[in-house]
Amino acid sequence: MRPTVTVNCAMTADGKIAGRSRRQLRISSPEDLARVKELRAASGAILVGVGTVIADDPHLTVKDLPPERNPLRVVLDPRGRTPDGARVLDGRARTLIVTSEDCERNWEGAETLRAGKGRIDLELMLSRLHERGVRDLMVEGGGETIFSFFESGLVDRYMVFVGSMIVGGRGSPTPADGDGLPEDRPVRLRLAGCRRLGDGVLLTYEVGHGAP
Ligand SMILES: NC(=O)c1ccc[n+]([C@@H]2O[C@H](COP(=O)([O-])OP(=O)(O)OC[C@H]3O[C@@H](n4cnc5c(N)ncnc54)[C@H](OP(=O)(O)O)[C@@H]3O)[C@@H](O)[C@H]2O)c1
Repeated sequence: MRPTVTVNCAMTADGKIAGRSRRQLRISSPEDLARVKELRAASGAILVGVGTVIADDPHLTVKDLPPERNPLRVVLDPRGRTPDGARVLDGRARTLIVTSEDCERNWEGAETLRAGKGRIDLELMLSRLHERGVRDLMVEGGGETIFSFFESGLVDRYMVFVGSMIVGGRGSPTPADGDGLPEDRPVRLRLAGCRRLGDGVLLTYEVGHGAP
C-alpha cells in the first residue's frame, strides 16, 4: 500500500521551474500560492529532493498551523547532503530525511529513514510513509525528483501552474529533468482541469498507469 502521489510545481511559460542560477524563482500568482497552501494543509506529507533544500532552503510548512498539525516534511537525500542549518530542521514541523542504506549521517531535528542501496527505493519509502498513516503525498520538486517519481510510475496526479513569464536558459531546471524517458514510452496524461489563477493557468492532469 502507498499514499496517493500528487506532483505540484510552478513553471514559467517557457517550461522552467527556476532560472539558470537555479535559485528560487517566484512563478506562482498570489491566487496560486493560496491554492498551494490549501493543498499542503490537506496533505499528509510534503516531499522535495535535497537539491531543492540546498538551492531554496524552503520551510515546507503551512504558516498558522502548529507543528503537530503540519504535514510531515520529507527530503530525498541519498548521500546525506542536507546542511545542518537547513530550515527543514527548524522544528516547525516533523521532518523525515530519506537516505540510502550506505549513508550513516543523522540530523538533529529530523528522523532518518534508510531505503535502498545507492539510489533511494521510492516504493519502499512510500510503503513506510503509508505505514505511518500518510495517505496523500505532495511532491514539490525539483526536476530530478519529479522525474524519478514519473520514471518509477508512482505519480497519480500532476498539477502545474504556468506563470506568465519567460526565463530561458538551456540549463534551467524543468518539471521533469533526469535522464529522460524512452521516447516511445512517454508517461501519458489525461487533462482533468484547466483554471485561470490570476495571471497564470493551473493545469491538472491524471496519470494513466499501464500501457499507453
Ligand atoms: N518552481 C517550482 O515549483 C519548484 C519547486 C521545487 C524546486 N524548484 C527548483 O528546482 C531546482 C532544484 O531541482 P533539482 O532537480 O536540482 O533538485 P531536486 O530534485 O530537488 O533534488 C535532486 C537530488 O535529490 C536526490 N534524489 C532525487 N530523486 C531521487 C531518487 N529517486 N533516489 C535518490 N535520490 C534522489 C538526489 O540527490 P544526490 O544528488 O545527493 O544523489 C538528486 O540529485 C531549484 O532550482 C529549485 O528552485 C522549483
